[in-house]
Amino acid sequence: MTEPVADIGVVGLAVMGSNLARNLARNGNKVAIFNRSPEKTEHLVVEHPEAEFVPTFTYEEFAASLARPRTAIIMVKAGAGTDAVIDELVRVFEPGDIIVDGGNAHFPDTIRREKAVRETGINFVGAGISGGEEGALNGPSIMPGGSDEAWVTLGPILRSIAAIAEGEPCVTHIGHDGAGHFVKMVHNGIEYADMQLIAEAYDLIRRGTGKTPAQIADVFAEWNTGELESYLVEITAEVLRQNDAATGEALVDVILDEAGAKGTGAWTVQTALDLGVPASGIAEAVFARSLSSQRGQRDAAVGLPGPAPAEHEGFAHDAETFVEQVRLALYASKIVAYSQGFDIIRAGAAAYDWAIDLGAVSKIWRGGCIIRAQFLNRIADAYAAQPDLPLLLAAPYFAEALGRAQDAWREVVTVAAASGIPAPAFASSLAYYDGLRADRLPAALVQGQRDFFGAHTYRRVDRPGVFHTEWSGDRSETQES
Ligand SMILES: NC(=O)c1ccc[n+]([C@@H]2O[C@H](COP(=O)([O-])OP(=O)(O)OC[C@H]3O[C@@H](n4cnc5c(N)ncnc54)[C@H](OP(=O)(O)O)[C@@H]3O)[C@@H](O)[C@H]2O)c1
Repeated sequence: MTEPVADIGVVGLAVMGSNLARNLARNGNKVAIFNRSPEKTEHLVVEHPEAEFVPTFTYEEFAASLARPRTAIIMVKAGAGTDAVIDELVRVFEPGDIIVDGGNAHFPDTIRREKAVRETGINFVGAGISGGEEGALNGPSIMPGGSDEAWVTLGPILRSIAAIAEGEPCVTHIGHDGAGHFVKMVHNGIEYADMQLIAEAYDLIRRGTGKTPAQIADVFAEWNTGELESYLVEITAEVLRQNDAATGEALVDVILDEAGAKGTGAWTVQTALDLGVPASGIAEAVFARSLSSQRGQRDAAVGLPGPAPAEHEGFAHDAETFVEQVRLALYASKIVAYSQGFDIIRAGAAAYDWAIDLGAVSKIWRGGCIIRAQFLNRIADAYAAQPDLPLLLAAPYFAEALGRAQDAWREVVTVAAASGIPAPAFASSLAYYDGLRADRLPAALVQGQRDFFGAHTYRRVDRPGVFHTEWSGDRSETQES
């Protein structure tokens, strides 16, 4: 019979699970490990004797090895694999024990699972974990949901393995049931937008100035010393500097230009649509990946007319000025993407009754995760100054930055359109910004059209009430309420 010697267990020992188990062991935890195929368990024990893992080969053995309340982190393939493991753990665990799903679950699944598991008296915590395999090993950003009771036990363990940013661990109890996976989903949506904006900046600089990928790597490395400092800008420089060993060309020129996706960006946009949040920058980033993968349609469109190359290629007469304009456009568009992302979280918190501290979310994204950036300190400052901030991009720091960037931003979007260079995330972010700023929107005309064909009514600017015009009659106006 196995003794209850372990503080925590990990189920699922592929890349993420094995690295997370090692991270837990390094930070003072005695870790029980289990994997469906026993070879992975045996392999991990042999490869990492320093971790002093407690290997287990049945769920019964796994449960018996854990001190009470038992705590287990599941790191298996999201979906059916997660449900299968939860069923097994519920069978061998007892009320008060804690099951954590650290995989990339969709938040409605987490809400469903939490409800079902809670009925057994066992705690279920959906925890978003960002940072890939490197983060899992050396410190990820962790976004746990679940009950307050579970957080009492789990908090110290997760704090011990999370990344540290500005002296603080990158983990906070986000909110109940699916709140953690919801916030992780939005994190990934913002990541899509950030990556697309960086890609558009690269494309504009390359086509506008004729710089080589290696020269543009220098531009990104330089940007990474200023207000754009971030993991994604840093790795962009690395990717652009890489040469292909087989051809000697820049690696970026031999990579097929069809972007993949695992679905979290699409979930973010679908959720934003459901919540009525205009997350246009994130949506454009998801659509840009879809467009890139429509090979047949792209082939069919090759002959369609565009601006004459002679007039537009290398259009930037002053390369240095243009690069700076693109930098400002990138920064402004990035502010929009993050502002939209935080809007989704705020709307989700209201819809699902989660008490999410937006400032705390910005702080735990400062380290460990893919969107880690200097910039998140400014977001944290903005929410510290005004926790109920209605619009992040209107906070004084960002309003000033947008004011500083907007001329360049407009110029870059104009130049992109005139030159036939697709910059969907830059352009839609600017349109969103101008939409928010506008005194009057053509939504008034849309309301008129809706009333015309569907008697959907409208409100007036000059007096309260709901009105309808008799469009098919004498066109007089009636007050409906
Ligand atoms: N990779 C990343 O960068 C990353 C980043 C953040 C989050 N995540 C999430 O972390 C989780 C783990 O990712 P990963 O890349 O390490 O692994 P993965 O390739 O997503 O999944 C493989 C693991 O799942 C287990 N598994 C699959 N179906 C199972 C079932 N029905 N019952 C029991 N075990 C089952 C496998 O066991 P066998 O060995 O027996 O097949 C193996 O341990 C996923 O949810 C992923 O989305 C990944």
